[in-house]
Amino acid sequence: MDQVDIAILGAGAAGLFCAGSALTQGQSVLVIEHSSKPGEKIRISGGGRCNFTNMATTWDRFLSGNLRFSASALARFQPEDFVRLVDGAGIAWHEKTQGQLFCDGKATQIIDLLLHRMRGAELRLQTAVKDVSRNADGFVVATSAGQVRAQHVVVATGGKSIPKMGATGIGYDIAEKFGLRLVEPRAGLVPLGFAEQDLALCRPLAGISVEAEIAHGPARFRDALLFTHRGLSGPVILQISNYWRPGEMLELDLVPDVDIAGCLIQARNGAGRVSVAQVLSQWLPERLAQAILAEMELAAGRLADQSNDSLKRLGQRINRWQIRPVGTEGYRTAEVTLGGVDTGDLDAKTLQARKVPGLHFIGECVDVTGWLGGYNFQWAWASGDAAGRAI
Ligand code: FDA
Repeated sequence: MDQVDIAILGAGAAGLFCAGSALTQGQSVLVIEHSSKPGEKIRISGGGRCNFTNMATTWDRFLSGNLRFSASALARFQPEDFVRLVDGAGIAWHEKTQGQLFCDGKATQIIDLLLHRMRGAELRLQTAVKDVSRNADGFVVATSAGQVRAQHVVVATGGKSIPKMGATGIGYDIAEKFGLRLVEPRAGLVPLGFAEQDLALCRPLAGISVEAEIAHGPARFRDALLFTHRGLSGPVILQISNYWRPGEMLELDLVPDVDIAGCLIQARNGAGRVSVAQVLSQWLPERLAQAILAEMELAAGRLADQSNDSLKRLGQRINRWQIRPVGTEGYRTAEVTLGGVDTGDLDAKTLQARKVPGLHFIGECVDVTGWLGGYNFQWAWASGDAAGRAI
């Protein structure tokens, strides 16, 4: 039976980073991964350019049963620390928007950086973790290629999102086996599904994009909204999907910062023969404006002929569009899994299970989920570093 100081389960973002940090403590480290390649989600992330961090990272941009849980690890390994590694590796990068940093080249550069950083650790690919148990000498990890004995085990097997890419949810099984509580996992950063009547509006508009604002409960996001054959998509929908629960209504503002009803009522004086569609097209793509007017049976109307009431209704439809999604696309397309190992059962500084010394949980399998925009990788690096240095 193999014997190591630290067995890290999963060679994703968190596991690979943890391995590099643990090496600085002089321990023997084995990373066990069932796929044939490490870091597969990194490879496809950010459209192939990996949005590797967000400079605006703070604990309040994460969802968790305990909002402040992530603060400790995030404070000790910050976006600037990762940027230093990226610069040190000579990887060119750029800021896209809202603090999001992307590689100029390929996401595989980040995987290479992580593999280089963990030189000295063993990476065992195509080896599936089946079970973890504990005896008087430490832990025994049962794998598809035999057993490994380890003093410390770091569970970095991610969530359930995109099973086609290797997601298994085994981290949750291990947590439950050792008596840790779980916050019900669910798909996050995921496209939403819409009812037929909403699809009838969206389908002919497929390809149109506007900057929209969505408010839902405590969350408010402003970003691109995309009309597609499957309804509404784009970053603003992915962001709000983390906060949306089945049955709830969403409210969208298609022209943020402009009081459409007020502007139309003002423009009506002296508007003459100008159509409502013409006036609206200064704020909205023409086809979208036409579709909304058709839905409200105002399509052929002249602005001068509209009553205050109908302009107010139109303004409401644009600034406060209420729409009720029917579901999400689920784990098949979700970028992340919300929920996971209950933070109440983990130490925030070391990510160690309070009741099971030597057993750590890091990355996406923990009940800490970031907004879209590089926050989830920053959590993977920070939680991996916290556990790796603590052991
Ligand atoms: P991750 O899922 O990366 O790694 C877990 C590893 O464990 C996998 O390699 C898996 O194969 C392995 N594993 C599972 N079960 C196992 C078993 N039984 N035995 C052995 N190994 C096992 N985030 C961000 O910040 N910026 C971005 O640009 C993107 N973009 C993006 C695009 C897409 C399409 C997706 C799906 C996701 C993103 N994300 C993202 C989210 C980001 O990828 C995610 O938060 C991190 O990869 C989580 O890192 P972990 O290491 O925790 O899990």
